[in-house]
Amino acid sequence: MSEKNLEVSEAQIAVHWQEEEYFPPSTEFIAQANMADAGVFDRFSLDNFPNCFKEYADLLDWDEYWHTTLDTSDAPCWKWFVGGKLNVSYNCIDRHLEKNQNKAAFIYVPEPVEEPPVAITYRDLYNRVNEFAALLRDFCGVKQGDRVTIHMPMVPELPITMLACARLGAIHSVVFGGFSGKASGERVSDSGSNVLVVMDAYYRGGKLLEHKDKADQAVKVATDDGQEVDKVLVWQRYPGKYSAETPMVEGRDYFVNDLLKDYTGKRVDPVPVPAEDPLFLMYTSGTTGRPKGCQHSTGGYLAYAAGTSKYVQDIHPEDVYWCMADIGWITGHSYIVYGPLALGASSVLFEGVPTFPDAGRAWQIAEQLNVNIFHTAPTTIRMLRKAGPDEPAKYNYKFKHMTTVGEPIEPAVWRWYYDVVGRGEAAIVDTWWQTETGGFLCSTLPALSPMKPGSAGPAVPGIHPIIYDEDGNEVTPGSNIAGNICIQNPWPGAFQTIWGDRDRYVKQYYERYCANPESKDWRDWPYLTGDAAMQAPDGYFRILGRIDDVINVSGHRLGTKEIESACLIVNEVAEASVVPVNDELKGKVPDVYVSLKPGFDSGKEIQTKVIAAIDDSIGKIARPKNVYIVPDMPKTRSGKIMRRVLAAISNNQDVGDVTTLANPEIVDEVRKLVQGE
Ligand code: WTA
Repeated sequence: MSEKNLEVSEAQIAVHWQEEEYFPPSTEFIAQANMADAGVFDRFSLDNFPNCFKEYADLLDWDEYWHTTLDTSDAPCWKWFVGGKLNVSYNCIDRHLEKNQNKAAFIYVPEPVEEPPVAITYRDLYNRVNEFAALLRDFCGVKQGDRVTIHMPMVPELPITMLACARLGAIHSVVFGGFSGKASGERVSDSGSNVLVVMDAYYRGGKLLEHKDKADQAVKVATDDGQEVDKVLVWQRYPGKYSAETPMVEGRDYFVNDLLKDYTGKRVDPVPVPAEDPLFLMYTSGTTGRPKGCQHSTGGYLAYAAGTSKYVQDIHPEDVYWCMADIGWITGHSYIVYGPLALGASSVLFEGVPTFPDAGRAWQIAEQLNVNIFHTAPTTIRMLRKAGPDEPAKYNYKFKHMTTVGEPIEPAVWRWYYDVVGRGEAAIVDTWWQTETGGFLCSTLPALSPMKPGSAGPAVPGIHPIIYDEDGNEVTPGSNIAGNICIQNPWPGAFQTIWGDRDRYVKQYYERYCANPESKDWRDWPYLTGDAAMQAPDGYFRILGRIDDVINVSGHRLGTKEIESACLIVNEVAEASVVPVNDELKGKVPDVYVSLKPGFDSGKEIQTKVIAAIDDSIGKIARPKNVYIVPDMPKTRSGKIMRRVLAAISNNQDVGDVTTLANPEIVDEVRKLVQGE
């Protein structure tokens, strides 16, 4: 038996959802849609691969046009639009100035209700990105190819920092603001950044939280790891005022707002970089303990983010688009910053939580800003539905389009989103994709296919999924049989490699179903997504969950091994095992089982220490639902911890046959401890 069984049981949970009926998009929506031509699927068929993606590349301005659509000579590290040169900050800002300089690029909504929304026009953004790019270049010495780690909350200075890096051809690595200083330091070290950009403080749930302290911890962790950090740039939540307690370190920490005085009005020419140069790293959890830096390209990534924003998000120039994700995750990179800005849209950026000061906040903002495209995750929808099921009706807004992303959405939750939030008028897309994929893989094209609750839909144009069984045989398409979903072909948004670890990239994503490791033909290299899925006869895919050791908490990926290694920092802990437990609001959350070294007694203080260790290593987002101190872990005869058994106990499910375990008697003991007699 293996841990695969754990995922089978997760898959089973999802399979229990009924097949649902269709919801057609409204004629009003179809009449205005960017993509209402069903011929798009022919244009993007495998017969027309890879040249079909020219359509997306042509949404961009190129300093030098590319000559080769797809270069497979270094398989499976795919290179798109080879020979081309472009600059992302030029494409997201400069080229919109002539016609739209006074249009809002971002509309920033601070969390405190007494601070009014601020529109940042394309001209403002141009000025601020240029000045900050000049600072990065001239004060910090940042140049093309250097890495800059950014650990910031949801404020306009975050995309300004990202776009300034892109202007210089530097590679940014944004760490989600809620992650701990230690997590940030590990990423600083892995990426080899010697500049760290942070903010002093930010609002969350009504409190101004100190953030600068995390920078000190990050620098310490990085330095201990051998990575020097020369400069820490500190943006101020209130320019000119320091809102944190932690002292600034002389000669290392600098207030950006002080330094910027020397760069007022400075301009930096956008550096044209080769299409296949990296634009950014985004760290994500995988099957081994250490987070991996997914390396995304410049030309392919931006083309894919722009194309999918246009056709799946249906963004038009006059729309007000609000994606409520955090820019610290891939969703925010592709669908708050790069995709919308490449199209010259107005993108809303919200600092806080949608339940502050009350559960109507999101709808109040939608009304106030006249948002007509709304994008969020099932965990947020569940939370808002619980906290204020009737709140949307109190506000006067009209969404034409809504997105759900990050985890499977229960049909009942989908219906509330559709009926109550969207008033039965908005088209919904359930977009399935990953940090690695840069953009959407499966989703309906909103004007072309009907919605089906609980199903992501068919693949988006140019993506050709295939489902394999454990033995590498293709599962019959449309058979509703679950298997491992892979993508047959490369696409421009796909990550290029794991930063500094090509072997891990090949092993984790391509080895499993590779027909021939020597092959330079993309047909031999299906991409393993790590998700289980099934395809219905209508071609729609239903995503069932991860097949690896990743827990999807509120739509965010956490590695069980990362959490386990945090537990092992606690001196008394001998062994730790982390399993996903179903949660009404968050989808899944970690349950922690620990056993203690001989001579230690279980007690509340050990649970407290375990929680503190997880907070410190990863961040509060990884907080377990429960910490159980068990006399021993259920183990196989070879000594492997049976997570599947623990997961079944946590979720009140049948533990199955445990007679072959080395210590079957422990199972019932653990069960009683968790579930009671
Ligand atoms: C899951 C987030 C079902 C999936 C963009 C995937 C989904 C992981 C959906 C990636 C969806 C994402 N329906 N499951 N619409 N979207 N997932 O890297 O398990 O944070 O592999 O990227 O989230 O999470 P990541």
